[in-house]
Order: sequence, then structure tokens, then C-alpha cells
Amino acid sequence: MLGNQHVVIFGGSSGIGLAAAGQARSLGARLTLVGRSREKLNRAAESLGGARVVVADITDRAAVEAVFAGMERVDHLVVTAGTFNAGRVADTDPDTLLRALDERIAGPLYAIKAALPLFAERASITLMGGQLSDRPTGNGVAVISAAVRGVEALAGALAQELKPIRVNVVAPGFTDTPLFDVLGESSKVFLQQVAESLPVGRVGRAEEIGSAILFMMTNAYVNGEVLHIDGGGRLV
Ligand SMILES: NC(=O)c1ccc[n+]([C@@H]2O[C@H](COP(=O)([O-])OP(=O)(O)OC[C@H]3O[C@@H](n4cnc5c(N)ncnc54)[C@H](OP(=O)(O)O)[C@@H]3O)[C@@H](O)[C@H]2O)c1
Repeated sequence: MLGNQHVVIFGGSSGIGLAAAGQARSLGARLTLVGRSREKLNRAAESLGGARVVVADITDRAAVEAVFAGMERVDHLVVTAGTFNAGRVADTDPDTLLRALDERIAGPLYAIKAALPLFAERASITLMGGQLSDRPTGNGVAVISAAVRGVEALAGALAQELKPIRVNVVAPGFTDTPLFDVLGESSKVFLQQVAESLPVGRVGRAEEIGSAILFMMTNAYVNGEVLHIDGGGRLV
């Protein structure tokens, strides 16, 4: 279904992006994975049986533009790059807080703008939102919540501005990925507590979010959509 199509994934070296990469590969896609750590990228490429890898920080405009230099065509652009940079407004400096916006709004814009001349006729763009858009609860999530809500607005506007390129958002709830490694020892306890609060009684798996990304990529009539994959987390 994706035979000979080129899928570029910012954040493809881990978690949700890596799961999407694996599923795209199994449908025949050629892959370019982008992230900050070459080691993680190489490990991911090996696990996928090969992929082009490029080191770039999505918040660095020049580095993002360089990712696309010499590239022939982009059929699908996916952005899952991001970190769990929570911080309470009262005790976190603004530059640190604003990194959530750099990663989720500025970064994707750099990538989309740089890819524009390369997009195939039926190209798609899939961005990452999140449950925090509807349920901005938890400690220190104000700016991430604003960022993921902003991603939804951005995608809707771009679906019109960039037509016929389709632009969609996948909005995950809590999903067990290395994103939470930043919490150290307490990440397991945290995810267990979240799991107990959810109607489905568990947190998500990267593959379950990855398959939503593949749906956005391959269903050519889905456009301007926000697809929530959260185990019902928005309801509790
Ligand atoms: N897991 C969840 O519960 C959850 C819920 C809602 C939304 N999300 C969002 O989904 C996205 C993917 O998360 P995940 O759970 O798959 O996390 P993950 O396993 O930590 O993967 C994040 C990926 O993004 C890359 N990355 C991070 N910062 C980057 C940057 N500045 N420039 C380029 N690449 C960058 C990472 O590689 P490097 O570290 O090498 O750069 C890695 O490949 C994130 O935006 C996250 O906020 C996740």
C-alpha cells in the first residue's frame, strides 16, 4: 500500500514514531528517520532492517532544512518529535517552558515549510497532539497543553492552506514509551496509576498510536482530523 513511497518521520527513532516506522515499512515504504541522537537512530534503523537516518533537532531551523537537502520526494511527513518537558509556571524559567512550543509548533512548521517543494501530489502530513489538549490536568503541563491544542488548530488551518496535501493530528493519551524515562524510577508507578484511572484499565502501546498514524497516511479522504487514541482518557 505504501510501496515506493517515501515516509519521513521526525521522532522515528523511538516510541510512537518508531512503531509507525515499522508499520510503514511493513507496507513497503522507504523511510527517513530524524532525531537528535545518532545512536538511537542507528539502533532504530537496524531494528527496521534499514532506513536512512538524519541527525537534527527539530527546533533548529537550519538543521531541519538540511534534512531535506537533496531529497527527491516526500510522500508522507510525520512529526512525533517531542519531550515530556513539564514544568510549573511558578518555578520554571520561560525559555524552558517555551521549548514545548518550539518542539510542537515551530519545529513542525520548519519541517513542513522545508518539505513543501518536495511533496508528492497525494502527500500527507501527520502531527502529534495529545490528550492534554482536552484535559490539561497534572502538574506542570500548562505549556505542553497549549502546544498540543495549538497543533490541532495549526493542522486544521494547514489542511486548507496547503490543499490538496492532507494534514491530520493523532492525539494520544498516556502511552508506555521511553518518553517517561525522564521520570526515572517513578515512571512505572506513574504509568500504573494512570492505567488504574482509565476506562480500559491500562495505558496505550506505541503500536496502537502508530496504527492511527498509518490510518491518517493511507486513508486519502481523512483531512483536518484529530484522532484521539486514549483509552477513553478524555472522559475521566
Ligand atoms: N507517550 C505518551 O504518553 C504521549 C502522549 C501524548 C503525546 N505524546 C507525544 O508523542 C510524541 C512522541 O512521543 P513518544 O512517546 O513516542 O516519545 P519517545 O519514545 O521519547 O520518542 C520521542 C522521539 O522524538 C525524538 N525527539 C525528541 N526531541 C526531539 C527534537 N527536539 N528534535 C528531533 N527529534 C526529537 C526522540 O529522539 P532523540 O531523543 O534522539 O531526539 C525520539 O525519536 C511526543 O511529542 C509526545 O509529547 C506522547
